[in-house]
Amino acid sequence: MSSTAQAPATSEANARAQIELHKELAPRYAYRYSFEFSRLFQQDWHAEMIGHVPPGSKRILDLGCGTGFFLAELEQHHPGSVGLDISHAMLKVSDQYVPDARLVTGDAEKLPFKPGVFDVVFCKGSLHHTRDHVAFLTHCRKALRPGGVLIMSEPCNDNPIIRLARAILYRKSQHFDVGDQGFTKKGIVSLCEQAGFKVTKVKKYGILAYTFAGFPDHLGFLRFIPGNALITRGFIALDRLICATPGLSIFGFHVVVVGEPGPSAAEAEVTS
Ligand SMILES: C[S@@+](CC[C@H](N)C(=O)[O-])C[C@H]1O[C@@H](n2cnc3c(N)ncnc32)[C@H](O)[C@@H]1O
Repeated sequence: MSSTAQAPATSEANARAQIELHKELAPRYAYRYSFEFSRLFQQDWHAEMIGHVPPGSKRILDLGCGTGFFLAELEQHHPGSVGLDISHAMLKVSDQYVPDARLVTGDAEKLPFKPGVFDVVFCKGSLHHTRDHVAFLTHCRKALRPGGVLIMSEPCNDNPIIRLARAILYRKSQHFDVGDQGFTKKGIVSLCEQAGFKVTKVKKYGILAYTFAGFPDHLGFLRFIPGNALITRGFIALDRLICATPGLSIFGFHVVVVGEPGPSAAEAEVTS
């Protein structure tokens, strides 16, 4: 979508735009995850998210699972996990990572599951592609059983430089829709609360490894550097240190949020 395009005004129009956008992106994701150093980074990111799964969790949903690279890892820890994505083109790529996965083509804002069936709902980078964030999160909450857990990782814009860079990227790049957006830590916590979640953990994730190893389809020079896997490991360790340091964590490119359906969640209504 070009920089002159308007953001789709409704959730339905956005859903159609996301399907079109991800037809183009599906092969790029396969390319992205084809490098060892990129997979190393993704696996660390996945471990960060999977580490929040409460013991004994069995029914797990990955909402916006894309090409299934995360789902494949989830399957190793929690067999029988379900992946849902609005883009059939993205789901088709998942055959190469997780051929026997339970996959559903569908819209996160019209979930085809009975309420309260999941122990855990994951969202890795899908919320920022939707337009009604509270509605999306409310659907996540309704999909969870009482005491279930939402584990989410989304682009974080706390740092003004990151915010500006992302605003330019999202407007100019063919790989985003103009309405896609990053969040502040405070903002995403507030969205979760509006959707009836009690947020139990928030932490920043990813700086150097995210930038240099996360997207070799965009920024690929690490591909040509000998020892790129070792360098990525170093970046991962440094990023963890920075993200855990008060005052420096503002440099984190993503925010990992963990929440549980709050006590008053039953009364919260989907807004659209
Ligand atoms: C940035 S990609 C992330 C994919 C995957 N989680 C990963 O980390 O590789 C965002 C995904 O969200 C999906 N998506 C966007 N809007 C959606 C919606 N309303 N319902 C379900 N999936 C959606 C897109 O098709 C895309 O696969």
